[in-house]
Amino acid sequence: MKAATIFDLTGTVALVTGASSGLGARFAQVLAANGAKVALVARRKDRLDALCGRIEKAGGTAMAIEADVLDRAAMLRAFDETHQAFGTVSILVNNAGAAQGVRALDMTEEEWRRILSLDLDSVFFWSQEGARRMLAAGVKGSIVNTASVLAFGAAKGVTAYAVAKAGVVQLTKALALELAFKGVRVNAIAPGWFVTDINRAFLEGDKGEEMKRSIPMGRFGAEGDLDGALLLLASKAGAYMTGATIIADGGQVVRIG
Ligand SMILES: NC(=O)c1ccc[n+]([C@@H]2O[C@H](COP(=O)([O-])OP(=O)(O)OC[C@H]3O[C@@H](n4cnc5c(N)ncnc54)[C@H](OP(=O)(O)O)[C@@H]3O)[C@@H](O)[C@H]2O)c1
Repeated sequence: MKAATIFDLTGTVALVTGASSGLGARFAQVLAANGAKVALVARRKDRLDALCGRIEKAGGTAMAIEADVLDRAAMLRAFDETHQAFGTVSILVNNAGAAQGVRALDMTEEEWRRILSLDLDSVFFWSQEGARRMLAAGVKGSIVNTASVLAFGAAKGVTAYAVAKAGVVQLTKALALELAFKGVRVNAIAPGWFVTDINRAFLEGDKGEEMKRSIPMGRFGAEGDLDGALLLLASKAGAYMTGATIIADGGQVVRIG
């Protein structure tokens, strides 16, 4: 089998949340470059429109949908609009997320709930809606969730985020189990540190060099480092994979000393 054949996404419809910047923007471009029609979802419509233009200029097909992943009505609208334009979503990438930088003892209840709602609850509700529609349309689909190395280890100041991401790994397994026989695969990618808007100030600050040295490969993730994992999970190449979390972190989580 040729790699170009098993990774080909022609005929698929992808929806990527958090596509307005960082990892999600890259995911959308990679899916489109490999043949998927892609719905780009986030709150910053101007950024989505700009990305849509770049994808189309490169020969791909995309549409921009302004939606807050916490808004259930907006979620339904996003799936409806994608369906009307491209057909049933067959690849759902739950990528929208944010971290907070606050020590546990200083965290308010509101902040705790905001992070859990965004980084865990929304992954469940978008997966639930996406899977319902795949089953109703008889579509064999793939759901890819963005977890984090913080699902496997803790760091100071990101308690709620780490708990949410650990929840995403477990949610991935639980949904995979219920949906496997119905033809919907559910997997996750757990990235290490990639410099994006979520962490730029921190990773490019004083602590950055120290953090880089603690990564066995000696560098942060670079653009393209998650392309292979995404394409594997989204395409026929990963046809027998479900419930898995692929860690792409330069060796970070295997380090003890
Ligand atoms: N960068 C890393 O080192 C790293 C490591 C592990 C995991 N991750 C995960 O990777 C994912 C992407 O993060 P990133 O690093 O690419 O950061 P980013 O550049 O800040 O991207 C976050 C994305 O999430 C969207 N978003 C946030 N809140 C939203 C909401 N309520 N509704 C809709 N969209 C929302 C943002 O779009 P709008 O603001 O336009 O809505 C943006 O597109 C996150 O789940 C993050 O936890 C990142």
